[in-house]
Amino acid sequence: MKHFVTFEGIDGSGKSTISKMVSEKLRSAGHDVIWTFEPTDSPVGKFVQDCIRKQSDPFVTSFTFIADRIQHCTHIKQWLGQGKIVLCDRYAESTYAYQAAQLETELKDPLKWLQELSRHRILIPDRTYLFEIDPKTSLARIQHRSELIPFERLAFLEKVHKNYLTVSKGKRFLQLDATKPIDELVQLCYDDILR
Ligand code: TMP
Repeated sequence: MKHFVTFEGIDGSGKSTISKMVSEKLRSAGHDVIWTFEPTDSPVGKFVQDCIRKQSDPFVTSFTFIADRIQHCTHIKQWLGQGKIVLCDRYAESTYAYQAAQLETELKDPLKWLQELSRHRILIPDRTYLFEIDPKTSLARIQHRSELIPFERLAFLEKVHKNYLTVSKGKRFLQLDATKPIDELVQLCYDDILR
């Protein structure tokens, strides 16, 4: 059984909807579940949301996302210590994929730099799902939203998508086809968490 599980993917990949549905399904089966998310709703998390909107310096954005995560980890540790299953909508791979895309002209190897920066201060999930979708399709899914944030542009999401594929390698990751029916994806995650 997996206790700390994260959901990743580009904007419009469906990971928030699916992670919430998985958490409801686990709860209905009697499990003690926490559904949480990043950026968090703490003052640091709110500051970083502002950084995105205002298109702040990418180093400030990177450090703040990581600070938000380190603080979030103290809560996640407590929940895990209480025996809860913790599902987190976005986590470390979001920083690697998005901020590496922002920093690509600033650093030689932004992915490595970002991974090194937080490696010793964050928890490693038991499982990370990557909801894989073509950026054109994901953008078409979110076009109706009243406000799109500056990250939700095709050229940028294509870089993020590429970074996600680079960092999501290894036993911890499961890449899922995000265009599959939602119920199928929910069941797949549910079964995998309990396995
Ligand atoms: P959300 O749409 O899942 O609430 O996330 C808001 C935006 O923040 C989304 O475009 C992805 C971005 N983001 C990063 O750039 N780095 C991060 O570390 C996280 C957690 C989110």
